[in-house]
Amino acid sequence: MELMEAIRMRRSIRHYQPVPVEREKLLRVLEAGRLAPSARNEQEWRYIIVEEACMRQKLMQAASYQSFVAEAPVVIVACAKTDGRIMQCGQLAYPIDVAISLDHITLKAVEEGLGTCWIGAFDANQVKALLNIPDDVQVVELLTLGYPTKIPNSRTRLSLDEIIQFEKWK
Ligand SMILES: Cc1cc2nc3c(=O)[nH]c(=O)nc-3n(C[C@H](O)[C@H](O)[C@H](O)COP(=O)(O)O)c2cc1C
Repeated sequence: MELMEAIRMRRSIRHYQPVPVEREKLLRVLEAGRLAPSARNEQEWRYIIVEEACMRQKLMQAASYQSFVAEAPVVIVACAKTDGRIMQCGQLAYPIDVAISLDHITLKAVEEGLGTCWIGAFDANQVKALLNIPDDVQVVELLTLGYPTKIPNSRTRLSLDEIIQFEKWK
């Protein structure tokens, strides 16, 4: 699949078939995340792969009861083992690095016929307690993964004209 085709086809998937994701496929998807760039090549991302139904149910409760979190056969808990380094530009490095890695994962998932949905609406302390995540590790995002049932229409995006300016902010 061409990269641009995967970018165009990706949607947030909120309905999943009750079918497990094959382990080799899962590892290929995660490999795309492993190869992402990161500030100073720190690679602070750490992933917990949750497949057990009982734990997915608990994660669903920690994620504002978004039911598809329990429905998806895999929940990827994206963490950062980080000292919270702030780059010279003033931005924290780890959320950016983890987001790049996760985005690789979402696009590779499309190529593998899988769907994903980013989950930012969750209680990080509850997730940490459920999964025994140490205090010095940040939980950045959850990502559901599985075979979609319904593929929604694409959401609108701003046009290029609305998001770019040449040379200076006008
Ligand atoms: C950082 C981030 C957090 C998000 N959190 C949630 C969430 O908690 N629940 C949800 O249903 N969708 C969530 N989304 C999905 C967005 O709503 C979705 O990407 C956006 O509406 C565009 O739709 P599309 O992904 O289908 O193109 C999140 C997306 C991002 C990038």
